[in-house]
Amino acid sequence: MPLTLLTASLVLLLVLIVVGIVRKRPPGAAREPPMPLRLPIIGHLHLLRGYSVPYQAFTALKLRYGPVVRLQLGAVKCVVVNGQRHIREALVTRGHHFDFRPNFERYQRLFAGNKENSLAFCDWSSTQKARRDMLKAHTFPRAFTAQFQRLEGLVVEETGRLVRALSAHSTLQLKPLLLQTCANVFLSHFCSVRFGAQNAAFLDLLSNFDEVFFEVNQGYAADFLPFLMPLHRRKLQRLSAVTHKIREFINREVIGDRFERHQPDMEPADYLDSLIGRVKAPGKEPLDWDTALFALEDIIGGHAAVGNFLTKLFAFLVAEPQVQRRIQQEIDAQVGVDQPVTISHRLVYTQAVIYEAIRLISSPIVPRVANQTSELGGYTIEKGTVLFLNNHDLSMSEELWAEPQQFRPERFIRAGKLFKPEYFLPFGGGRRSCMGYKLVQLVSLGVVGAIMQRFTLRPLGGDLAPYRVPIGSLALPKDSFTFQLEKR
Ligand code: HEM
Repeated sequence: MPLTLLTASLVLLLVLIVVGIVRKRPPGAAREPPMPLRLPIIGHLHLLRGYSVPYQAFTALKLRYGPVVRLQLGAVKCVVVNGQRHIREALVTRGHHFDFRPNFERYQRLFAGNKENSLAFCDWSSTQKARRDMLKAHTFPRAFTAQFQRLEGLVVEETGRLVRALSAHSTLQLKPLLLQTCANVFLSHFCSVRFGAQNAAFLDLLSNFDEVFFEVNQGYAADFLPFLMPLHRRKLQRLSAVTHKIREFINREVIGDRFERHQPDMEPADYLDSLIGRVKAPGKEPLDWDTALFALEDIIGGHAAVGNFLTKLFAFLVAEPQVQRRIQQEIDAQVGVDQPVTISHRLVYTQAVIYEAIRLISSPIVPRVANQTSELGGYTIEKGTVLFLNNHDLSMSEELWAEPQQFRPERFIRAGKLFKPEYFLPFGGGRRSCMGYKLVQLVSLGVVGAIMQRFTLRPLGGDLAPYRVPIGSLALPKDSFTFQLEKR
Protein backbone atom coordinates (compact mmCIF):
# COMPACT_ATOMS: atom_id res chain seq x y z
CA MET A 1 0.00 0.00 0.00
CA PRO A 2 1.52 3.42 -0.93
CA LEU A 3 2.48 5.58 2.04
CA THR A 4 -0.11 8.34 1.38
CA LEU A 5 -2.94 5.77 1.20
CA LEU A 6 -1.73 4.24 4.48
CA THR A 7 -1.67 7.69 6.16
CA ALA A 8 -5.14 8.51 4.81
CA SER A 9 -6.50 5.19 6.14
CA LEU A 10 -4.98 5.81 9.56
CA VAL A 11 -6.46 9.33 9.71
CA LEU A 12 -9.86 7.95 8.69
CA LEU A 13 -9.60 5.23 11.35
CA LEU A 14 -8.70 7.87 13.96
CA VAL A 15 -11.64 10.07 12.94
CA LEU A 16 -13.99 7.07 13.18
CA ILE A 17 -12.66 6.19 16.64
CA VAL A 18 -13.05 9.79 17.88
CA VAL A 19 -16.57 10.08 16.40
CA GLY A 20 -17.33 6.68 17.96
CA ILE A 21 -16.16 7.86 21.37
CA VAL A 22 -18.18 11.07 21.09
CA ARG A 23 -21.26 9.13 19.96
CA LYS A 24 -20.83 6.59 22.72
CA ARG A 25 -21.13 9.33 25.41
CA PRO A 26 -24.39 8.47 27.16
CA PRO A 27 -27.18 10.90 26.31
CA GLY A 28 -27.50 12.20 29.88
CA ALA A 29 -23.77 12.60 30.44
CA ALA A 30 -22.64 15.76 32.21
CA ARG A 31 -21.95 18.74 30.02
CA GLU A 32 -21.19 21.45 32.49
CA PRO A 33 -21.57 25.14 31.64
CA PRO A 34 -18.37 27.02 30.76
CA MET A 35 -16.44 28.42 33.69
CA PRO A 36 -13.80 31.20 33.79
CA LEU A 37 -10.45 30.53 35.49
CA ARG A 38 -10.85 30.71 39.23
CA LEU A 39 -8.68 31.78 42.16
CA PRO A 40 -8.04 29.72 45.27
CA ILE A 41 -10.51 30.21 48.18
CA ILE A 42 -12.53 33.11 46.68
CA GLY A 43 -13.11 31.31 43.38
CA HIS A 44 -14.72 33.88 41.09
CA LEU A 45 -15.83 36.43 43.70
CA HIS A 46 -13.29 38.91 42.33
CA LEU A 47 -15.22 38.98 39.02
CA LEU A 48 -18.12 40.75 40.77
CA ARG A 49 -15.92 43.62 41.93
CA GLY A 50 -16.04 47.05 40.32
CA TYR A 51 -19.67 47.04 39.17
CA SER A 52 -22.19 49.50 40.57
CA VAL A 53 -24.80 46.73 40.24
CA PRO A 54 -23.36 43.23 40.85
CA TYR A 55 -25.65 41.75 38.17
CA GLN A 56 -23.81 43.82 35.54
CA ALA A 57 -20.92 41.40 36.12
CA PHE A 58 -23.24 38.59 35.01
CA THR A 59 -23.99 40.41 31.75
CA ALA A 60 -20.24 40.81 31.15
CA LEU A 61 -19.83 37.05 31.73
CA LYS A 62 -22.64 36.32 29.26
CA LEU A 63 -20.85 38.29 26.55
CA ARG A 64 -17.67 36.31 27.12
CA TYR A 65 -18.88 32.78 27.93
CA GLY A 66 -22.48 32.49 26.72
CA PRO A 67 -25.88 32.49 28.41
CA VAL A 68 -25.19 29.90 31.12
CA VAL A 69 -21.95 30.34 33.08
CA ARG A 70 -20.64 28.31 35.99
CA LEU A 71 -19.06 30.18 38.89
CA GLN A 72 -17.52 29.14 42.16
CA LEU A 73 -18.27 31.98 44.56
CA GLY A 74 -16.17 31.15 47.60
CA ALA A 75 -17.60 27.92 48.98
CA VAL A 76 -20.78 28.08 46.88
CA LYS A 77 -21.33 26.42 43.53
CA CYS A 78 -23.29 28.82 41.33
CA VAL A 79 -24.61 29.24 37.82
CA VAL A 80 -25.47 32.53 36.15
CA VAL A 81 -28.44 32.31 33.79
CA ASN A 82 -28.95 34.94 31.10
CA GLY A 83 -31.58 35.56 28.46
CA GLN A 84 -35.34 35.17 28.44
CA ARG A 85 -35.35 31.60 27.11
CA HIS A 86 -33.02 30.20 29.74
CA ILE A 87 -34.48 32.25 32.60
CA ARG A 88 -37.97 31.01 31.70
CA GLU A 89 -36.64 27.46 31.57
CA ALA A 90 -35.28 27.87 35.13
CA LEU A 91 -38.43 29.57 36.47
CA VAL A 92 -41.18 27.71 34.66
CA THR A 93 -40.36 24.73 32.41
CA ARG A 94 -37.98 23.22 34.97
CA GLY A 95 -39.17 25.43 37.83
CA HIS A 96 -39.87 22.33 39.96
CA HIS A 97 -36.15 21.44 39.78
CA PHE A 98 -35.03 24.93 40.82
CA ASP A 99 -37.42 25.83 43.62
CA PHE A 100 -35.08 25.92 46.63
CA ARG A 101 -33.37 29.06 47.94
CA PRO A 102 -29.74 29.58 49.01
CA ASN A 103 -28.73 28.34 52.40
CA PHE A 104 -26.92 31.49 53.52
CA GLU A 105 -26.10 31.66 57.21
CA ARG A 106 -27.47 35.21 57.25
CA TYR A 107 -30.95 34.02 56.21
CA GLN A 108 -30.88 31.37 58.92
CA ARG A 109 -30.03 33.95 61.57
CA LEU A 110 -32.66 36.45 60.39
CA PHE A 111 -35.42 33.90 60.82
CA ALA A 112 -34.72 32.62 64.34
CA GLY A 113 -32.10 30.13 63.18
CA ASN A 114 -34.26 28.53 60.50
CA LYS A 115 -34.72 30.00 57.03
CA GLU A 116 -37.66 27.62 56.50
CA ASN A 117 -39.62 30.10 58.65
CA SER A 118 -39.35 32.63 55.83
CA LEU A 119 -41.80 32.79 52.91
CA ALA A 120 -39.20 34.02 50.46
CA PHE A 121 -36.01 32.22 51.56
CA CYS A 122 -37.33 28.76 52.45
CA ASP A 123 -36.91 25.74 50.22
CA TRP A 124 -39.97 24.43 48.40
CA SER A 125 -42.05 22.09 50.57
CA SER A 126 -45.64 21.07 51.16
CA THR A 127 -45.73 23.70 53.94
CA GLN A 128 -44.66 26.40 51.48
CA LYS A 129 -47.30 25.26 49.01
CA ALA A 130 -49.94 25.43 51.74
CA ARG A 131 -48.70 28.88 52.86
CA ARG A 132 -48.85 30.17 49.27
CA ASP A 133 -52.29 28.68 48.67
CA MET A 134 -53.64 30.34 51.81
CA LEU A 135 -52.16 33.70 50.89
CA LYS A 136 -53.42 33.81 47.32
CA ALA A 137 -56.96 34.78 48.26
CA HIS A 138 -55.61 37.81 50.15
CA THR A 139 -52.76 38.96 47.92
CA PHE A 140 -54.55 38.42 44.61
CA PRO A 141 -58.12 39.56 45.34
CA ARG A 142 -60.22 39.21 42.20
CA ALA A 143 -61.48 42.43 40.64
CA PHE A 144 -65.00 43.52 41.68
CA THR A 145 -65.28 41.02 44.55
CA ALA A 146 -66.21 42.32 48.02
CA GLN A 147 -62.63 41.77 49.15
CA PHE A 148 -61.29 43.80 46.23
CA GLN A 149 -63.69 46.63 46.98
CA ARG A 150 -62.69 46.60 50.63
CA LEU A 151 -59.04 46.89 49.62
CA GLU A 152 -59.88 49.70 47.23
CA GLY A 153 -61.63 51.53 50.09
CA LEU A 154 -58.62 51.04 52.38
CA VAL A 155 -56.25 52.46 49.77
CA VAL A 156 -58.51 55.51 49.29
CA GLU A 157 -58.72 56.01 53.05
CA GLU A 158 -54.97 55.79 53.63
CA THR A 159 -53.98 57.85 50.59
CA GLY A 160 -56.52 60.49 51.73
CA ARG A 161 -54.68 60.68 55.07
CA LEU A 162 -51.34 60.82 53.24
CA VAL A 163 -52.47 63.77 51.10
CA ARG A 164 -53.71 65.63 54.18
CA ALA A 165 -50.40 65.02 55.96
CA LEU A 166 -48.47 66.22 52.90
CA SER A 167 -50.55 69.38 52.67
CA ALA A 168 -48.96 70.56 55.92
CA HIS A 169 -45.47 70.60 54.35
CA SER A 170 -43.73 72.17 51.43
CA THR A 171 -40.47 70.26 51.91
CA LEU A 172 -40.10 66.79 53.38
CA GLN A 173 -38.65 63.30 53.23
CA LEU A 174 -41.38 61.22 51.65
CA LYS A 175 -40.14 57.80 52.68
CA PRO A 176 -41.43 57.76 56.30
CA LEU A 177 -44.91 58.87 55.22
CA LEU A 178 -45.01 56.40 52.35
CA LEU A 179 -44.02 53.60 54.72
CA GLN A 180 -46.82 54.62 57.11
CA THR A 181 -49.38 54.66 54.31
CA CYS A 182 -48.31 51.29 52.91
CA ALA A 183 -48.07 49.71 56.38
CA ASN A 184 -51.58 50.84 57.29
CA VAL A 185 -52.98 49.50 53.99
CA PHE A 186 -51.28 46.16 54.66
CA LEU A 187 -52.23 46.02 58.35
CA SER A 188 -55.87 46.91 57.68
CA HIS A 189 -56.10 44.52 54.75
CA PHE A 190 -54.40 41.50 56.35
CA CYS A 191 -55.24 42.08 60.04
CA SER A 192 -58.02 44.71 60.23
CA VAL A 193 -55.98 47.14 62.37
CA ARG A 194 -54.33 50.47 61.68
CA PHE A 195 -52.17 52.83 63.72
CA GLY A 196 -51.89 56.61 63.97
CA ALA A 197 -48.90 58.67 62.91
CA GLN A 198 -48.39 59.74 66.55
CA ASN A 199 -48.05 56.17 67.82
CA ALA A 200 -44.35 55.88 68.73
CA ALA A 201 -44.42 52.07 68.94
CA PHE A 202 -45.91 51.92 65.42
CA LEU A 203 -43.21 54.25 64.06
CA ASP A 204 -40.64 52.03 65.74
CA LEU A 205 -42.18 48.99 64.07
CA LEU A 206 -41.86 50.65 60.66
CA SER A 207 -38.26 51.53 61.22
CA ASN A 208 -37.57 47.94 62.38
CA PHE A 209 -39.25 46.42 59.33
CA ASP A 210 -37.35 48.82 57.10
CA GLU A 211 -34.06 47.80 58.66
CA VAL A 212 -34.78 44.10 58.07
CA PHE A 213 -35.87 44.87 54.50
CA PHE A 214 -32.63 46.75 53.84
CA GLU A 215 -30.64 43.87 55.29
CA VAL A 216 -32.25 41.08 53.24
CA ASN A 217 -31.59 43.11 50.11
CA GLN A 218 -27.84 43.29 50.72
CA GLY A 219 -25.31 40.80 49.45
CA TYR A 220 -22.25 39.97 51.56
CA ALA A 221 -18.99 38.20 50.76
CA ALA A 222 -19.71 36.28 53.99
CA ASP A 223 -22.69 34.60 52.27
CA PHE A 224 -20.10 32.78 50.16
CA LEU A 225 -17.18 32.76 52.58
CA PRO A 226 -18.78 31.70 55.88
CA PHE A 227 -15.51 32.14 57.78
CA LEU A 228 -16.15 35.92 57.40
CA MET A 229 -19.45 35.69 59.31
CA PRO A 230 -17.89 36.70 62.66
CA LEU A 231 -17.28 40.13 61.07
CA HIS A 232 -21.04 40.61 61.00
CA ARG A 233 -21.70 39.35 64.52
CA ARG A 234 -22.69 42.75 65.92
CA LYS A 235 -25.03 43.53 63.04
CA LEU A 236 -26.70 40.14 63.26
CA GLN A 237 -27.18 40.51 67.00
CA ARG A 238 -28.82 43.87 66.37
CA LEU A 239 -31.07 42.38 63.70
CA SER A 240 -32.05 39.59 66.01
CA ALA A 241 -33.13 42.23 68.58
CA VAL A 242 -35.01 44.10 65.84
CA THR A 243 -36.94 41.00 64.70
CA HIS A 244 -37.71 40.26 68.35
CA LYS A 245 -39.26 43.74 68.74
CA ILE A 246 -41.32 43.22 65.58
CA ARG A 247 -42.69 39.98 67.04
CA GLU A 248 -43.53 41.72 70.33
CA PHE A 249 -45.50 44.46 68.56
CA ILE A 250 -47.35 42.01 66.33
CA ASN A 251 -48.31 39.85 69.31
CA ARG A 252 -49.35 42.75 71.52
CA GLU A 253 -50.89 45.28 69.13
CA VAL A 254 -51.97 43.30 66.10
CA ILE A 255 -53.04 39.90 67.42
CA GLY A 256 -54.03 40.72 70.98
CA ASP A 257 -56.62 38.17 72.08
CA ARG A 258 -57.77 37.21 68.58
CA PHE A 259 -56.31 33.71 68.84
CA GLU A 260 -58.34 32.97 71.97
CA ARG A 261 -61.48 34.66 70.63
CA HIS A 262 -61.41 32.79 67.32
CA GLN A 263 -64.35 30.43 66.86
CA PRO A 264 -64.16 27.44 64.49
CA ASP A 265 -67.36 28.38 62.62
CA MET A 266 -66.25 31.99 61.99
CA GLU A 267 -66.04 33.24 58.40
CA PRO A 268 -62.43 34.58 58.15
CA ALA A 269 -62.48 38.38 58.03
CA ASP A 270 -58.86 38.68 56.97
CA TYR A 271 -55.59 36.78 56.50
CA LEU A 272 -54.96 36.73 60.26
CA ASP A 273 -58.28 34.91 60.73
CA SER A 274 -57.37 32.40 58.02
CA LEU A 275 -54.05 31.68 59.75
CA ILE A 276 -55.62 31.24 63.18
CA GLY A 277 -58.33 29.04 61.67
CA ARG A 278 -55.74 26.83 59.98
CA VAL A 279 -53.67 26.48 63.17
CA LYS A 280 -56.76 25.55 65.22
CA ALA A 281 -58.28 23.20 62.61
CA PRO A 282 -55.26 21.86 60.76
CA GLY A 283 -56.79 19.71 58.00
CA LYS A 284 -54.38 17.98 55.61
CA GLU A 285 -51.38 20.27 55.96
CA PRO A 286 -51.05 21.36 59.61
CA LEU A 287 -49.59 24.75 60.39
CA ASP A 288 -48.09 25.55 63.78
CA TRP A 289 -48.65 28.98 65.35
CA ASP A 290 -44.98 29.93 65.19
CA THR A 291 -44.80 29.26 61.44
CA ALA A 292 -48.04 31.19 61.01
CA LEU A 293 -46.59 34.17 62.88
CA PHE A 294 -43.53 34.24 60.64
CA ALA A 295 -45.77 34.14 57.55
CA LEU A 296 -47.86 37.00 58.94
CA GLU A 297 -44.79 39.12 59.68
CA ASP A 298 -43.32 38.43 56.25
CA ILE A 299 -46.45 39.53 54.48
CA ILE A 300 -46.96 42.64 56.62
CA GLY A 301 -43.28 43.37 55.99
CA GLY A 302 -44.15 43.52 52.27
CA HIS A 303 -45.22 47.13 52.93
CA ALA A 304 -41.54 48.05 53.18
CA ALA A 305 -41.00 46.80 49.60
CA VAL A 306 -43.79 49.06 48.32
CA GLY A 307 -42.74 52.05 50.48
CA ASN A 308 -39.12 51.86 49.31
CA PHE A 309 -40.21 51.29 45.72
CA LEU A 310 -42.52 54.33 45.75
CA THR A 311 -39.80 56.53 47.24
CA LYS A 312 -37.58 55.59 44.30
CA LEU A 313 -40.42 56.12 41.84
CA PHE A 314 -40.95 59.69 43.10
CA ALA A 315 -37.21 60.37 42.87
CA PHE A 316 -37.40 59.33 39.19
CA LEU A 317 -40.40 61.66 38.74
CA VAL A 318 -38.59 64.68 40.17
CA ALA A 319 -36.24 64.50 37.22
CA GLU A 320 -39.11 63.96 34.75
CA PRO A 321 -41.47 66.96 34.97
CA GLN A 322 -43.11 66.06 31.65
CA VAL A 323 -43.96 62.57 33.02
CA GLN A 324 -45.56 64.20 36.07
CA ARG A 325 -47.56 66.45 33.73
CA ARG A 326 -48.81 63.47 31.72
CA ILE A 327 -49.88 61.60 34.86
CA GLN A 328 -51.71 64.72 36.01
CA GLN A 329 -53.42 65.12 32.63
CA GLU A 330 -54.55 61.51 32.76
CA ILE A 331 -55.92 61.92 36.30
CA ASP A 332 -57.62 65.20 35.42
CA ALA A 333 -59.28 63.53 32.43
CA GLN A 334 -60.26 60.21 34.06
CA VAL A 335 -60.90 61.19 37.67
CA GLY A 336 -61.02 64.98 38.03
CA VAL A 337 -59.96 66.90 41.13
CA ASP A 338 -62.73 66.18 43.62
CA GLN A 339 -63.08 62.40 43.49
CA PRO A 340 -60.39 60.18 45.01
CA VAL A 341 -58.22 58.22 42.59
CA THR A 342 -59.12 54.55 42.97
CA ILE A 343 -57.40 51.43 41.79
CA SER A 344 -60.36 50.78 39.49
CA HIS A 345 -59.78 53.95 37.43
CA ARG A 346 -58.32 53.18 34.02
CA LEU A 347 -55.02 55.03 34.39
CA VAL A 348 -52.95 53.37 31.69
CA TYR A 349 -50.16 55.94 31.61
CA THR A 350 -49.81 55.94 35.41
CA GLN A 351 -49.63 52.14 35.40
CA ALA A 352 -46.96 52.34 32.69
CA VAL A 353 -45.00 54.76 34.93
CA ILE A 354 -45.10 52.12 37.69
CA TYR A 355 -43.78 49.44 35.31
CA GLU A 356 -41.07 51.76 34.03
CA ALA A 357 -39.87 52.53 37.57
CA ILE A 358 -39.82 48.80 38.37
CA ARG A 359 -37.88 48.10 35.15
CA LEU A 360 -35.24 50.74 35.85
CA ILE A 361 -34.75 49.65 39.44
CA SER A 362 -34.11 46.11 38.18
CA SER A 363 -34.22 44.45 41.54
CA PRO A 364 -32.94 40.87 41.35
CA ILE A 365 -35.01 37.71 41.29
CA VAL A 366 -34.35 35.97 44.63
CA PRO A 367 -31.72 33.33 43.74
CA ARG A 368 -32.95 29.76 43.25
CA VAL A 369 -31.22 26.48 44.10
CA ALA A 370 -31.37 23.18 42.22
CA ASN A 371 -33.20 20.62 44.40
CA GLN A 372 -31.86 17.81 42.16
CA THR A 373 -29.33 17.40 39.38
CA SER A 374 -31.05 18.81 36.31
CA GLU A 375 -30.46 20.51 32.99
CA LEU A 376 -30.60 24.06 31.77
CA GLY A 377 -29.91 25.27 28.25
CA GLY A 378 -28.54 21.80 27.49
CA TYR A 379 -26.05 21.96 30.38
CA THR A 380 -26.04 19.78 33.46
CA ILE A 381 -26.76 21.66 36.68
CA GLU A 382 -25.72 19.80 39.79
CA LYS A 383 -28.01 19.47 42.79
CA GLY A 384 -27.37 22.26 45.30
CA THR A 385 -26.16 24.79 42.69
CA VAL A 386 -27.31 28.38 43.33
CA LEU A 387 -28.88 29.97 40.25
CA PHE A 388 -28.58 33.72 39.65
CA LEU A 389 -31.21 34.69 37.09
CA ASN A 390 -30.01 37.86 35.41
CA ASN A 391 -33.17 39.92 35.09
CA HIS A 392 -31.08 43.09 35.29
CA ASP A 393 -29.91 42.20 31.78
CA LEU A 394 -33.50 41.51 30.67
CA SER A 395 -34.62 44.89 32.02
CA MET A 396 -31.72 46.93 30.65
CA SER A 397 -30.72 45.17 27.44
CA GLU A 398 -30.31 47.43 24.40
CA GLU A 399 -31.50 44.55 22.26
CA LEU A 400 -34.86 44.46 24.04
CA TRP A 401 -35.51 48.11 24.87
CA ALA A 402 -34.95 51.36 22.97
CA GLU A 403 -32.74 53.66 25.08
CA PRO A 404 -33.07 51.47 28.18
CA GLN A 405 -31.41 54.03 30.48
CA GLN A 406 -34.16 56.57 29.80
CA PHE A 407 -37.40 56.85 31.80
CA ARG A 408 -39.95 56.26 29.05
CA PRO A 409 -43.29 54.87 30.30
CA GLU A 410 -44.71 54.83 26.74
CA ARG A 411 -42.71 51.66 26.07
CA PHE A 412 -45.36 49.85 28.15
CA ILE A 413 -48.30 51.15 26.11
CA ARG A 414 -49.53 49.67 22.83
CA ALA A 415 -52.67 50.86 21.07
CA GLY A 416 -53.78 52.73 24.19
CA LYS A 417 -53.49 49.65 26.40
CA LEU A 418 -50.96 48.62 29.00
CA PHE A 419 -48.49 46.25 27.38
CA LYS A 420 -46.18 43.96 29.35
CA PRO A 421 -43.51 42.35 27.16
CA GLU A 422 -42.89 38.67 27.95
CA TYR A 423 -39.23 39.39 28.69
CA PHE A 424 -40.19 41.79 31.48
CA LEU A 425 -39.94 39.55 34.56
CA PRO A 426 -39.50 41.79 37.61
CA PHE A 427 -41.57 39.48 39.82
CA GLY A 428 -39.90 36.24 38.75
CA GLY A 429 -42.18 33.41 37.70
CA GLY A 430 -43.37 29.87 38.30
CA ARG A 431 -44.06 28.30 41.67
CA ARG A 432 -41.82 30.71 43.63
CA SER A 433 -43.03 33.87 41.89
CA CYS A 434 -43.70 37.04 43.90
CA MET A 435 -46.78 36.82 46.11
CA GLY A 436 -47.15 40.59 46.29
CA TYR A 437 -47.10 41.87 42.72
CA LYS A 438 -50.80 42.64 42.55
CA LEU A 439 -50.63 44.60 45.82
CA VAL A 440 -47.59 46.47 44.50
CA GLN A 441 -49.60 47.56 41.46
CA LEU A 442 -52.78 48.41 43.37
CA VAL A 443 -51.17 50.33 46.23
CA SER A 444 -48.68 52.10 43.95
CA LEU A 445 -51.44 53.25 41.62
CA GLY A 446 -53.45 54.60 44.58
CA VAL A 447 -50.46 56.44 46.08
CA VAL A 448 -49.02 57.84 42.84
CA GLY A 449 -52.53 58.86 41.74
CA ALA A 450 -53.36 60.60 45.04
CA ILE A 451 -50.07 62.53 45.20
CA MET A 452 -50.03 63.56 41.54
CA GLN A 453 -53.68 64.65 41.73
CA ARG A 454 -52.77 67.28 44.34
CA PHE A 455 -49.05 68.03 44.03
CA THR A 456 -46.12 68.46 41.71
CA LEU A 457 -42.75 67.28 43.00
CA ARG A 458 -39.73 69.52 42.54
CA PRO A 459 -36.06 69.03 43.31
CA LEU A 460 -34.92 70.90 46.39
CA GLY A 461 -33.09 74.05 45.28
CA GLY A 462 -33.54 72.98 41.65
CA ASP A 463 -30.59 70.59 41.92
CA LEU A 464 -31.23 67.12 40.43
CA ALA A 465 -27.91 65.59 41.53
CA PRO A 466 -29.21 64.25 44.90
CA TYR A 467 -32.05 62.42 43.13
CA ARG A 468 -29.95 59.77 41.43
CA VAL A 469 -31.83 56.56 42.17
CA PRO A 470 -29.63 53.63 43.20
CA ILE A 471 -30.64 50.64 41.12
CA GLY A 472 -30.20 46.87 41.44
CA SER A 473 -32.22 46.70 44.67
CA LEU A 474 -35.51 48.05 45.97
CA ALA A 475 -34.07 49.06 49.32
CA LEU A 476 -33.04 52.58 50.25
CA PRO A 477 -31.22 53.67 53.40
CA LYS A 478 -33.34 55.09 56.19
CA ASP A 479 -32.62 58.71 55.22
CA SER A 480 -33.31 59.23 51.58
CA PHE A 481 -34.61 61.92 49.26
CA THR A 482 -36.09 65.20 50.44
CA PHE A 483 -38.72 66.53 48.07
CA GLN A 484 -40.24 69.93 47.50
CA LEU A 485 -44.01 69.75 47.13
CA GLU A 486 -45.91 72.29 45.11
CA LYS A 487 -49.70 72.29 45.48
CA ARG A 488 -51.53 72.16 42.17
C1 HEM B 1 -41.85 46.36 43.76
C2 HEM B 1 -41.98 45.46 44.72
C3 HEM B 1 -41.63 44.01 44.59
C4 HEM B 1 -40.81 43.37 43.70
C5 HEM B 1 -40.02 43.96 42.53
C6 HEM B 1 -40.82 41.97 44.05
C7 HEM B 1 -40.12 40.98 43.39
C8 HEM B 1 -40.04 39.68 43.80
C9 HEM B 1 -39.24 38.66 43.16
C10 HEM B 1 -38.38 38.88 41.94
C11 HEM B 1 -39.39 37.51 43.87
C12 HEM B 1 -38.74 36.17 43.57
C13 HEM B 1 -39.59 35.45 42.56
C14 HEM B 1 -39.02 34.18 42.02
O1 HEM B 1 -38.16 33.56 42.65
O2 HEM B 1 -39.46 33.76 40.95
C15 HEM B 1 -40.31 37.79 44.95
C16 HEM B 1 -40.71 36.86 45.86
C17 HEM B 1 -41.65 37.12 46.83
N1 HEM B 1 -42.33 38.28 47.02
FE1 HEM B 1 -42.08 40.00 46.02
N2 HEM B 1 -41.63 41.79 45.13
C18 HEM B 1 -42.17 43.00 45.49
C19 HEM B 1 -43.07 43.24 46.50
C20 HEM B 1 -43.64 42.29 47.28
C21 HEM B 1 -44.69 42.53 48.26
C22 HEM B 1 -45.36 43.87 48.50
C23 HEM B 1 -44.95 41.34 48.86
C24 HEM B 1 -45.95 41.03 49.93
C25 HEM B 1 -47.19 41.39 49.88
C26 HEM B 1 -44.08 40.36 48.26
C27 HEM B 1 -44.07 39.03 48.61
C28 HEM B 1 -43.19 38.11 48.08
C29 HEM B 1 -43.06 36.76 48.58
C30 HEM B 1 -43.81 36.15 49.76
C31 HEM B 1 -42.08 36.13 47.80
C32 HEM B 1 -41.55 34.72 47.96
C33 HEM B 1 -42.39 33.74 47.19
C34 HEM B 1 -41.78 32.34 47.27
O3 HEM B 1 -40.58 32.23 47.40
O4 HEM B 1 -42.54 31.36 47.20
N3 HEM B 1 -43.32 40.95 47.29
N4 HEM B 1 -40.69 39.11 44.89
